[in-house]
Amino acid sequence: MTKELTTLTPLAEDVFEGLQADNKYLPSKYFYDARGDELFQQIMHLEEYYLTRKELEIFQTHKQAILEAINGAEPFRIIELGAGDGLKTKVLLKHFMEAKVDFTYTPVDISGNVLEILKSNLKAEIPGLKIEPYEGDYFDALAEIAESPEKDIVFFLGSNVGNFSEKEAVGFLTKLQEFLKEGDLLFMGVDLKKDPAIILNAYNDEHGVTREFNLNLLDRINVELEANFDRNQFLHYPYYNPHTGECRSYLISKVEQAVTIMDEEIHFNAWEAIFMEISKKYDQKQLKELATAAGFIPQKTFFDSDNWFADLLWLKEK
Ligand code: TRP
Repeated sequence: MTKELTTLTPLAEDVFEGLQADNKYLPSKYFYDARGDELFQQIMHLEEYYLTRKELEIFQTHKQAILEAINGAEPFRIIELGAGDGLKTKVLLKHFMEAKVDFTYTPVDISGNVLEILKSNLKAEIPGLKIEPYEGDYFDALAEIAESPEKDIVFFLGSNVGNFSEKEAVGFLTKLQEFLKEGDLLFMGVDLKKDPAIILNAYNDEHGVTREFNLNLLDRINVELEANFDRNQFLHYPYYNPHTGECRSYLISKVEQAVTIMDEEIHFNAWEAIFMEISKKYDQKQLKELATAAGFIPQKTFFDSDNWFADLLWLKEK
């Protein structure tokens, strides 16, 4: 390797590390430039992308039961990790306000812009809502917020935990759990194992939006790292393993080719793959193991009418 890694930007460093590995990969956190954000919003509204609809249905159907399950002590605070546009959470917040519950909503996001928009939308739509956004890293937020004496409920929705491998998920949730106080709760949305065709379709939509979302990272590398990826020479390939529940997406080089990134050549064999992202689906046994491994006690599970998706309420152990 001729690149001096210490002088590189984080993007460059991660791209070289991933593309020089034996099994090539690119970190999915770089999907989200302006175009990536736009495509991601489109994915959330795709017919094939059932996850958003199913979680919304769970909230609409079970909002009162969810309130009863979390509301052991008032006032409490909801800390939402990766709040996005709040489309689903809004259903619960509205209901909690109508039930005259005393709580504060703290959406956490790395993007101050996202938080500003969310805050003004929610202020307009839910009069009286106490909203205190936190801009920054999830764990910085938890370190600062979860110390407060009031009961905290951490929302981690949308099957975002599925974007971790099993090992990473245990690590992430264990760390999260360590920041919580006894009696605090985790409310987490997970996608469940189901007909593989339904799962694959969600990551391989007819209009190619998810394909575009993956290829956009190559475009981003071209622009930001002076590279010359030809996106037409790569195939988008999602693959589901029904044993592990892992749906993995790859970009596969259709030909033998060399790509130049900042004067450095990266060689691709024909049909060599770049691993892009994992979207893991769970079954009940795996969820039970995950809770135990991370130090939580499962309290309650809420399902949609097809049992495709679940929102889990887990208690922090002593
Ligand atoms: N966490 C969601 C999921 O796994 C949303 C998501 C993250 C996603 N990255 C994605 C959806 C890439 C489609 C493609 O489904």
